[in-house]
Amino acid sequence: MKQDFVFYNPTKIYFGEHSLDNLKDELSHYGQNILLAYGGGSIKKIGLYDEVIKILKSCDKHIVELANIMPNPTYKKLMEGVNLVHEYHIDLILAVGGGSVIDLAKGVSVSAYCKDDAWKKYWIKGEPLDNYVVPVASILTMVGTGSEMNGGSVITNVAQKLKVGRVFGPEAYPKFSILNPTYTYSVSQYQMVSGIFDIMSHLMEQYFSDDDDNVSDYLIESLLKCLIKQTPVAIQNPTNYEARSNIMWTATLALNTLVGKGKTQDWLVHAIEHQLGAYTNCAHGMGLAAISIPYYRHIYSYGLPKFKRFAIEVFNVNSSGLNDEEIALKGLRRLTKFIKNSNMVTSLKELGATKEMLHDIAYSVNNSGYGYKQLDHEEILQILEECYE
Ligand code: NZQ
Ligand code: ZN
Repeated sequence: MKQDFVFYNPTKIYFGEHSLDNLKDELSHYGQNILLAYGGGSIKKIGLYDEVIKILKSCDKHIVELANIMPNPTYKKLMEGVNLVHEYHIDLILAVGGGSVIDLAKGVSVSAYCKDDAWKKYWIKGEPLDNYVVPVASILTMVGTGSEMNGGSVITNVAQKLKVGRVFGPEAYPKFSILNPTYTYSVSQYQMVSGIFDIMSHLMEQYFSDDDDNVSDYLIESLLKCLIKQTPVAIQNPTNYEARSNIMWTATLALNTLVGKGKTQDWLVHAIEHQLGAYTNCAHGMGLAAISIPYYRHIYSYGLPKFKRFAIEVFNVNSSGLNDEEIALKGLRRLTKFIKNSNMVTSLKELGATKEMLHDIAYSVNNSGYGYKQLDHEEILQILEECYE
């Protein structure tokens, strides 16, 4: 373990089919005014909205709604939430939805009492938090981002064409998160596999960097193997509880900061996807699925021992008679096959990009990662061109 670290994760997780039963007790720790944040209506379709409202009313809470939070949530929407926090003296923001809803809730929580321009201070300059943070809690309905147990808040500034992920410290983590795998049964296959690739990408971003012997890498290999096993089961039968629950908890573990401890991490695939998302508004995980293979083909030879290990440990590649490069490439072919078999999208064109956009996307990427090779903007453009069709 090369790096010293602190591990502190204050989010309390309630996991399982009956996890919503804990909401009432948790609410007793907060004041009367609740900002209920949710997306475009899926929680109403699955009946969760009614259940949550019933519990809030039974606790005599005053409910204020921040509805219609969009995928790739915008700073404009965030400011709408900030205004509600002030107008109604909000005591707790309860986010019910996927990563976009939870990210926006966290964004509102850190921005509401910021005296400066929060976008500039927190997302552009990355300054430390120095104001009161409104408590946030979540009920997760779409699996992938890990936002339910971390300090990430990815916000899009439409006017500036920037999608920026800020990782805040534990003071901005959800106080508690309720994870019931059955709430995810209604997620479309498109969104489900997008979320699954997001999980894989979080694990690979943390894995493909550094080569010391690190317990984090062994954890990542196990989580990847679990995903590879459970994904076809969930595609075949979306209401398979074993598969959905394993995928849900894998997502949380993949980005609650545990598996990245003690080592450097890459995150360039995410940096590229964020700008792709700023231009196309595509589903986050699908953007990652498109970019990953051309990216890894560009860099694998600079981290050959790790790509070889990935092939053998994660994809069970039989290495007999093959040299290191052949083994590594076989691993990447298995990953490509997994992406195709899971019906993930691998063409930027299909994700809404035009040829003309690629240059601006590539040149707006923050390329200061810790991957095996530092890529310049021209190389990023090449990668985007390789997955365009
Ligand atoms: O808006 P509704 O109607 O709820 O529909 C949503 C949305 O259209 C739908 N959905 C959610 N739960 C559902 C459901 N549909 C049916 N049944 C349900 N139970 O799914 C669609 C996508 O939701 P969204 O929240 O956008 O997806 P995801 O969880 O993938 O979040 C993506 C956002 O998170 C950011 C991404 O960049 C993107 O902006 N990320 C956040 C991270 C973090 N906080 O640490 C890290 C990630 O790398 C990522 O960057
Ligand atoms: Zn992600």
